[in-house]
Amino acid sequence: MKALIIIGSTRPVRVGDQIAGVVDRIMRERGVDTEVVDLRELNLPLLDEPKAAATGQYAHDHTRNWAATVNDADAVVVVTPQYNGGYPAGLKNAVDYLYNEWKGKPGAIISYGGHGGGKAYDQLVQVLSFVGLQLDPEGVKLSLARDAYGDNGTLTDAEAAISAQADEIAALADRVLAAMTEKDGAQG
Ligand SMILES: Cc1cc2nc3c(=O)[nH]c(=O)nc-3n(C[C@H](O)[C@H](O)[C@H](O)COP(=O)(O)O)c2cc1C
Repeated sequence: MKALIIIGSTRPVRVGDQIAGVVDRIMRERGVDTEVVDLRELNLPLLDEPKAAATGQYAHDHTRNWAATVNDADAVVVVTPQYNGGYPAGLKNAVDYLYNEWKGKPGAIISYGGHGGGKAYDQLVQVLSFVGLQLDPEGVKLSLARDAYGDNGTLTDAEAAISAQADEIAALADRVLAAMTEKDGAQG
């Protein structure tokens, strides 16, 4: 069983990859197999499929590859920043490419921002619930202090920046593992 960790930020200078790295470390330490997928590397164009995702009929290799990545995962953990009171457009684009691949899968949201990214979190709950992810009811909202950033715009020490909430991430990892295990057992 494997949990997909999605880096929701695609900016050339960002902290999303650093945060996902810490999340990945903690989840692995809690016994969760993980795969990190970086939306920047995935580089999906703005949705260019002629048919709705619910049909499952995909015209492009980039869609089929993305569908296979999500299909192969037993759970999905989305790591998202808050941009202007919401979550990034690239993340919505990546969600909209697929439909059935999300359905019924255990999921969790980890948002971050100056004050936890709660607005991005809440909006993403609506969208990911709509496509059928079975979301962890708590998730994690990480508050990043301004002085955690270095002059180059990245976190000076990502582990230290979110150390106060590492226990929350560990607890989330335990719940995601339990949800994956339960679903796996139910499917026989
Ligand atoms: C376009 C944009 C909008 C932002 N809006 C918010 C915001 O609404 N609330 C907040 O706390 N931080 C906001 N920030 C600050 C981000 O939380 C911070 O830059 C964070 O590092 C972004 O994640 P990233 O570096 O992984 O892209 C914004 C940053 C950007 C680039």
